[in-house]
Amino acid sequence: MKKTVGVGITGGIASYKIADLVSRLSKDEDINVIVIMTEAATKFITPLTFRTLSGRDVATDLWQESGEWKVQHIGIAEALDLMVIAPATANFIAKMAHGIADDLLSTIMLANTAPVLVVPSMNTNMYENPIVQANLTKLAEYGFEIMNPASGKLACDAVGKGRLPDIEEIYEKIRQMLNDKKDLKGKKVLVNAGTTCEDIDPIRFICNRSTGKMGYAIAREALLRGAEVILVSGRSTLTPPTGVEFIPVWSADEMCEVMLQKQPECDIIIGAAAVGDFKAANKSEIKIKKREHKEDKLLLELTSTPDILKELGKRKKTGQIMVGFAAETNNLLEYARRKLEEKNLDFIVANDVSEEGAGFGSDTNIVTIIDRRGEVKPLPQMSKERVAAAIIDKAVELF
Ligand code: C5P
Repeated sequence: MKKTVGVGITGGIASYKIADLVSRLSKDEDINVIVIMTEAATKFITPLTFRTLSGRDVATDLWQESGEWKVQHIGIAEALDLMVIAPATANFIAKMAHGIADDLLSTIMLANTAPVLVVPSMNTNMYENPIVQANLTKLAEYGFEIMNPASGKLACDAVGKGRLPDIEEIYEKIRQMLNDKKDLKGKKVLVNAGTTCEDIDPIRFICNRSTGKMGYAIAREALLRGAEVILVSGRSTLTPPTGVEFIPVWSADEMCEVMLQKQPECDIIIGAAAVGDFKAANKSEIKIKKREHKEDKLLLELTSTPDILKELGKRKKTGQIMVGFAAETNNLLEYARRKLEEKNLDFIVANDVSEEGAGFGSDTNIVTIIDRRGEVKPLPQMSKERVAAAIIDKAVELF
């Protein structure tokens, strides 16, 4: 079912950045966005921008006639699953803290019963003013969620706290607050992702085509479902989801060491990393020069890297759930079942990477989930986010 998010924009310079937030939210198929602006906000950016981005009229005036709602401020408040105030000015924070309802947005705030996210953004001295801080404390006591502003150079040329946090961070917070399925609350999830890299010399290394998309999507889904998440990532250009404990690593040995160290404290371990199977037997400390190799040939001796999941499988505690991936190009189910046994996994996510719409770099995946009881569940082509949700559903089912 679609969720309705109210985006209340108040009159700070950062209000222009909210166009990106509304655009991002409107692209999500499961979200309706209602934009409400204070009069001061309309001086910074026009309602037309938000009407175009959200696909619906922007509410700005308490006295405006509305065909959609019988009583506008009550109708909007009742439709909301979440209210976001961004940017929240010192004035609007004060009005919310004291129950002042003298315009449309502040009146909606009094009629609203949905959770509220407040994103303050203002000059550092204003933000640090004890009156503003006391008002924010009051809002937190009323149950409002308050985001910390970022630090940096502000529009007024001051340097300090008060910048609007990154839109992506606000977006993630909204998604977390909308997610009411908190079935991993109290659980700790360890996920690895991306490609490991093996140095040949100080310049060159061996890696593979993994981008980390699948593993990062799993980490994000686990976080949304209420888990504490540790993401151990090999090389990837992706931004880790806000809120995970992020541990970047380079080689398979390094990844193995971190995973073994973190294993005892975790309830679910998901190996989505494309761990390289081989590394250079003798890494050169200096650059290998092509002139020194006769007949245009260089023979590179390789040796095995540790099988991380297999090592973790040997040390698996009772009740711990372990999940692996099998990326294959042939004999998919047979190889996947063998890996499930060898690595002591509870289930394995098998995918044929040669299929269109599956595997490395793709935004979608086509997987089959095979568990220890022999249950084989093929899933249709889905976004990596939905595959991540299916993997977490399966782990929860096994608990
Ligand atoms: O044996 P194979 O590499 O095909 O198994 C894939 C699964 O095992 C993946 O979940 C991958 O993260 C994990 N793996 C590992 N250490 C390796 C190789 C693979 O943990 N050295």
